[in-house]
Amino acid sequence: MTASPAAPAPPQGPLLSVRGVDVGYRTGRRSRSTAVHDVSFDLHPGQSMALVGESGCGKTTLGLGLLRLLPRTGVVSAGEILFRRKDGRTVDVRSLAREELRRFRWSEAAMVFQGAMNAFNPVLRIEDHFLDTFRAHERGRARRRAGIREESAALLEMVRLDPARVLGAFPHELSGGMRQRALIALALALKPQLLILDEPTTALDLLTQQAIVERLSELREELRFSMLFITHDLGLAAELADRVGTMYAGRLIETGTTRDIFHRPSHPYTSALINSVPPVSGDLVVPESLPGGPPGLSSLPPGCSFAPRCRHAVERCRETRPELEVLHTRGGGLSHAAACLRSRELAAEGATRD
Ligand SMILES: Nc1ncnc2c1ncn2[C@@H]1O[C@H](COP(=O)(O)OP(=O)(O)OP(=O)(O)O)[C@@H](O)[C@H]1O
Ligand SMILES: [Mg+2]
Repeated sequence: MTASPAAPAPPQGPLLSVRGVDVGYRTGRRSRSTAVHDVSFDLHPGQSMALVGESGCGKTTLGLGLLRLLPRTGVVSAGEILFRRKDGRTVDVRSLAREELRRFRWSEAAMVFQGAMNAFNPVLRIEDHFLDTFRAHERGRARRRAGIREESAALLEMVRLDPARVLGAFPHELSGGMRQRALIALALALKPQLLILDEPTTALDLLTQQAIVERLSELREELRFSMLFITHDLGLAAELADRVGTMYAGRLIETGTTRDIFHRPSHPYTSALINSVPPVSGDLVVPESLPGGPPGLSSLPPGCSFAPRCRHAVERCRETRPELEVLHTRGGGLSHAAACLRSRELAAEGATRD
């Protein structure tokens, strides 16, 4: 198993500690593909981490696996998902029984799904989604509808929506941006410690995207939840995250502070991703496109999965699979690690910065 790159930890320790997690999908009666391999990272209270990488690299699979929200064919087949609950106890999410898991979701950790347009039940008004969420988790309290309505209205106001207009509406009556905000409000309803957002703004126009991202940042400051933010938009990652994890072919291949990742990426894949983003200001440069595509999960090359596309690859890269190795530690769980046999060498040459 790969050692965690995040050390030393702050005194209170991580909220979420992912250790050697594999996630796979059943593809036949006896066959299974592994979509996420040996992923380890820590997320500390109040921290925000972006998971970036090309389509198909396993970001959604990992996010769903962490909260055990995978489809029936999916399974977390190895590792530990240690989570420190509000009562201070640490549990392995993998070992939670059904009822515990139900309580864990929403009240400890919530997820805003990719393709959120489909996340609402089309025949229920927005108000009823809040009502269902509260009632499902507040057995015994039997709160009156009016009380829940008031709290739901406050949550909608928190994401800058007008409750008078939104509470009574059906999902299809809202714009994409409004639906996305309503989903974020719903996810925060039970004050989870962790919010996982999967491409929360991808389908939205730039201004709406920007407004949601800004509000999310403010809310995180106000409510102090931790955030795992899945995106292939590096600009968003730079804006929202304290830390970034790059995934490639199901593995975490680099983690570091947002500053480290953008200023001194240490894996050639991260550099290529950064170079493929046109700068927001300054002269427009022709983005360097990454040749080829990621390997299929069933045909991973023996050494480094990125070697076939890497212009720095040498013979040993095609033979030995690199482990995530800590390059330097900033303290507070903010180390910089990369899974590249040549990362130190390339850094010395400045090769991963061009
Ligand atoms: N339900 C499923 N059954 C079988 N394989 C799946 C399933 N969902 C995803 N996969 C496979 O798992 C791998 C990772 O997919 P995943 O959706 O996690 O990637 P992603 O990084 O979220 O991509 P995107 O950026 O396009 O959302 C892919 O090879 C995909 O084909
Ligand atoms: Mg995805």
